[in-house]
Amino acid sequence: MNKIDKVEQRKTPYLSAYRKYLKGQNIEFDVPGHHQGGIRTDFDKIFTHIVYKNDVNCPRGMDNIMHPTGCIKEAQELFAKACGADYCKFLVNGSTSGNLVMLTSALKAHDKILLPRNVHKSVINGLILSGASPVFVMPEIDPSTEIVNQITYKEWKKIIDNNLDAKAIFVINPTYFGAVANLKKITEYAHSKNMIVLVDEAHGSHFYFSNKCPSSAMACGADMATLSIHKTGGSLTQSSVLLIKGTRVSRYDVVKSFNMITTTSPSSILLASLDAARKYLVFKGSEAIFNAIKCAKEAKERIDKIPGFKPHSKDYFTKQGIYDFDETKLVIEIDKLTINGFEVYKILKDKYHIQIELAETYVLLCLFTVGTKHKDIDALVNALTKISNKYYDQEVTYQDHHYMKDFPPSCMRPRSAYHGPLKIVKLAKAEGYVSKEMIMIYPPGIPLIIPGERFTKELINELQYYKKIRCNILSDWEGSNEVSVVEKSNIDCGKSIEKKVE
Ligand SMILES: Cc1ncc(COP(=O)(O)O)c(C=O)c1O
Repeated sequence: MNKIDKVEQRKTPYLSAYRKYLKGQNIEFDVPGHHQGGIRTDFDKIFTHIVYKNDVNCPRGMDNIMHPTGCIKEAQELFAKACGADYCKFLVNGSTSGNLVMLTSALKAHDKILLPRNVHKSVINGLILSGASPVFVMPEIDPSTEIVNQITYKEWKKIIDNNLDAKAIFVINPTYFGAVANLKKITEYAHSKNMIVLVDEAHGSHFYFSNKCPSSAMACGADMATLSIHKTGGSLTQSSVLLIKGTRVSRYDVVKSFNMITTTSPSSILLASLDAARKYLVFKGSEAIFNAIKCAKEAKERIDKIPGFKPHSKDYFTKQGIYDFDETKLVIEIDKLTINGFEVYKILKDKYHIQIELAETYVLLCLFTVGTKHKDIDALVNALTKISNKYYDQEVTYQDHHYMKDFPPSCMRPRSAYHGPLKIVKLAKAEGYVSKEMIMIYPPGIPLIIPGERFTKELINELQYYKKIRCNILSDWEGSNEVSVVEKSNIDCGKSIEKKVE
């Protein structure tokens, strides 16, 4: 954890300015047009009138996110200091926008970047916007849970050595399921080869505020990181931060990208929640995160006794060669149930009112965070016990449903495929074509195919399997049995298109 000035960290500059503005008897002729609740709508049935009353944009005294000189600047500076960064930008469109800013500020068209293939869709969009050339690395897949894991230091070193002309590397710290790489060593090696280190820390905000967690990106010396404070740090949904350290990426380029991607109407409620969460995490985070880990461990012990569920935590992952693990995450393997993980997910919500983070065919993911209540462990354990009583069958053996042993082959830069001529084909007939779109299960939002990759028979079978079991599939083409591909790309591999696109 980082050494910080606790007196300074007691301040909440944005919240204070906000409170002051709301206390004034303001007569409004600005946006938002509801004018602090001048209308009554059905929205009030959920929130009374309080949200309208407090929803302002950037009135006088509350600074401007595009060019902050007042309370937003001060609040961002406090956040940067709390995290050991040199500079911070508040984000109101999640780490989605943080990833876009990182990729577009650090890379230009055709710059090479090394990155794991299990990145979030926003990273692929960052490649499209920047025009960068990705070199994808395939992390190991755990055969029991089918979770896509981390890339080890040894593998990173090899990839870096094989691509010395790369401008940057991109690391996920931690993965959605909590696996952590040896980021410090990876960063040092990448820096020794003049590469920029960008980190997706969407699931690791809490790493900055507890010594029970793996090291944070800033502590490891990374150049930029994006953190979804809303995911594990206690701020409101969408509110995130971008952290910057050192000068490998020009501040001017960061600000330029940020101003291109960010709304000119940021929600004051989201910004205030970031200022409040930072103070909370500095003073109470360590204890709350300790409690979250304690709850996760207790839940693991109790779930371990329920037939049909195998909870895994740090020891399971480190035995597989994963460097470290975020113990606020509880990965539960489905074992000998007559239903799959997606079905358990639905039953937990529909029957027991328990919303877990996500499910895959053979795995469930529960998050333990600063907001977790100890008593809720009972509800989870009870529900899983009842599901076990109904669906556990010792005779069940699972068939490997995975048709796809690897991600599809890449043939074009994502940007070239994105701009390539459109053809719509039936999914069943798509083999050989280069995709124009991303297709993924959400959550976790890791694309099964991205623009520039070629449809394979295995991928088509995989997608048909997910359709059959009614997963939440996201794609850009809205027709359900068709996909969007680059015209004629089954013949010429799309090379003619590649040449035309910058
Ligand atoms: C690894 C990863 N990166 C980035 C994001 C995007 O974060 P946000 O929801 O804050 O936009 C997610 C979202 O789930 C994610 O899992």
